[in-house]
Amino acid sequence: MNAARAIDGKAAAAALREKVAAGAREFARKALRKPGLHVVLVGEDPASAVYVGAKEKALHKAGMDGAVHRLPASTGEDELLRLVRKLNADPTVDGILVQLPLPDHLDEAKVLDTIDPEKDVDGFHVVNAGKLAVGKEALVPCTPAGCIRLIKEERGDLSGLHAVVIGRSNIVGKPMAQLLLAENATVTIAHSRTRNLPELAKTADILVAAVGRPEMVKGDWVKDGATVIDVGINRLAPAEDGAKGRLVGDVAYDEAARHAAAITPVPGGVGPMTIAMLLANTLVAAHAREGLEAPTL
Ligand code: GUN
Repeated sequence: MNAARAIDGKAAAAALREKVAAGAREFARKALRKPGLHVVLVGEDPASAVYVGAKEKALHKAGMDGAVHRLPASTGEDELLRLVRKLNADPTVDGILVQLPLPDHLDEAKVLDTIDPEKDVDGFHVVNAGKLAVGKEALVPCTPAGCIRLIKEERGDLSGLHAVVIGRSNIVGKPMAQLLLAENATVTIAHSRTRNLPELAKTADILVAAVGRPEMVKGDWVKDGATVIDVGINRLAPAEDGAKGRLVGDVAYDEAARHAAAITPVPGGVGPMTIAMLLANTLVAAHAREGLEAPTL
């Protein structure tokens, strides 16, 4: 096979963000307020700080209101839950996102399930996970929602295609499988206990890697002509001269690109789509709360 086409997530995300910004302007005209997105960051995890900073910039650029609530790592559960409940009750807040991971002393599931499901723009609340599982309209987790957009742009109708999702997290793997199933793909979820993973992966028309292990998926795991979606963002060890380690995905890109028809690069593939989908979810939640019909994005 020739080298695969690199799927341009940056361009797809920019196009979506433009649509969201236009939708936010129209929403403000009708509702006499901007959509509101509030992000809660507890502690000083450096990667989380970078992600949250990017979300803060993006929400203002999209013409939304909102703020980042930065709390110290020592914040108690009661205090965090009080903030979440305050945001739940605030009529100017349409979306609430609590950045994960939380410090160990905080119960992640309890915090996520305290968020009003209608403001749960991360789609992590059990109500939204349940709605997605039974095929009801739901707020869908941003990363898999971004992936399914890229996959549909690439493949069109997914009916009957075999999709293999490597990874079974609540944030990516499970909702990704549900979204593919809703598009009538035949879906296999693989994970660390799966037998014959390379052989299984090689049967995939659509291969999604979401495991957080640098370059785990090798070229000979990839079927000729497959669409490969790499959700991993892993930083390799620093070089001997102290230079920052390279960012790589869960897929060995160059090898996989010799077999795939199309593949998402890291960076510049799935990553940019996640924030764009967060803005899209916020716009949808804002419309729902005002009883307005959301635009098609
Ligand atoms: N940490 C890593 N990814 C995410 C995400 O999509 N949402 C939240 N809230 N935390 C994360």
